[in-house]
Amino acid sequence: MPHPPEMQNNLALSGQIRESTSSDIVIDTRLKTDERVIARVTDGIYRQPASAIRELISNAYDADATRVVVKTDAPRFERISIEDNGHGMTPEALAHMLEHIGSSAKRSAEGGLLGVTNQKDPTLSPGGRKLIGKIGIGIFSVSQLTHSFQIITKVAGDDYRTVATVALKQYNDDAPSEETHEFEAGKVKIWREKAADKETQGTTIVLTNIRTQARNTLRSREIWSAIEQSDQQRDLGAEEDQGSRIDPPKFHMGMMLLI
Ligand SMILES: Nc1ncnc2c1ncn2[C@@H]1O[C@H](COP(=O)(O)OP(=O)(O)O)[C@@H](O)[C@H]1O
Ligand SMILES: [Mg+2]
Repeated sequence: MPHPPEMQNNLALSGQIRESTSSDIVIDTRLKTDERVIARVTDGIYRQPASAIRELISNAYDADATRVVVKTDAPRFERISIEDNGHGMTPEALAHMLEHIGSSAKRSAEGGLLGVTNQKDPTLSPGGRKLIGKIGIGIFSVSQLTHSFQIITKVAGDDYRTVATVALKQYNDDAPSEETHEFEAGKVKIWREKAADKETQGTTIVLTNIRTQARNTLRSREIWSAIEQSDQQRDLGAEEDQGSRIDPPKFHMGMMLLI
C-alpha cells in the first residue's frame, strides 16, 4: 500500500539519515512550520530563558531520563547544554520531530511506533511516566534563546549517534508561502557518527550563540542577588517580608540540575 505523501517524506528523511555513516555524509533538510506554531512560540509563554530550558528538561523527563545535566559557561552564557540519559531518538523519531513541528507523536498512534510513547498507552512514556509534552513545539521554544543549536542523540543498541545542527530563520518578518501557508523556519544538517559504546543512550541539546537579551537576563545582578537573598533567608529561617522581594528564579543556571 502506498504511504501518504507526508509519510513518504518521513521515510525518505529517516532513510537518508540512516545512510550517513560519518560527518562527511551530511543530509540537508529544511524546517517547515505554520503561523499557528509561530504565534504560540512568540506570544510570550517562552519569553523567559528558563521557559525554554524547562521545555528541554521536560523532554528529558518524557524520555525516561534519570539524570539531566544543564551546563553553561557562566557568567558569559554564550552556550548552554542540556544532557540527558533518556531513551534518545531513532532517525525515524528525529525525522518525525523535524517534519512535524506543532504536532507531537506523544499521545498519538505514531508514538508507539517511533518509540516515543508506551506501547500500551500513548499518554505514558515508554517507561510508564505520565507524559508532559503534547503540542510538539517545546524544542522550537529555544528560538527565544538562539538561532543555532545542535541535537546529539543516541538510542541503546545503535552503533551510531545522530547529530543534527539547526539554524533557525528570523521568521518574525517573513510571509508564509501563498499555496501552503507554511513558513520556512530553518535549515538542518544531519549526520551519523560511530559511537564508542553501542549501549549508551541519551540526548544532548547544545544551544550556542545565545542572544544578547537572553544573556543579559541570565547574567542579571537582580536575579543572582535574589538567589543569594533567598539562600540567606532560608539559612536564617526568616519568614516575613517575602512580598517585597524578587522571586528567586526556579532554575539555577550554571549549576547541576537533577530531576
Ligand atoms: N531529550 C529528548 N529525548 C528524546 N526525545 C526527545 C527529546 N527532546 C525531544 N524529543 C523528541 O522530539 C519531539 C518533539 O519535542 P517537543 O518539541 O518538545 O514536543 P513534545 O514534547 O510536545 O512532543 C518529542 O516528541 C520527542 O519525540
Ligand atoms: Mg516537549
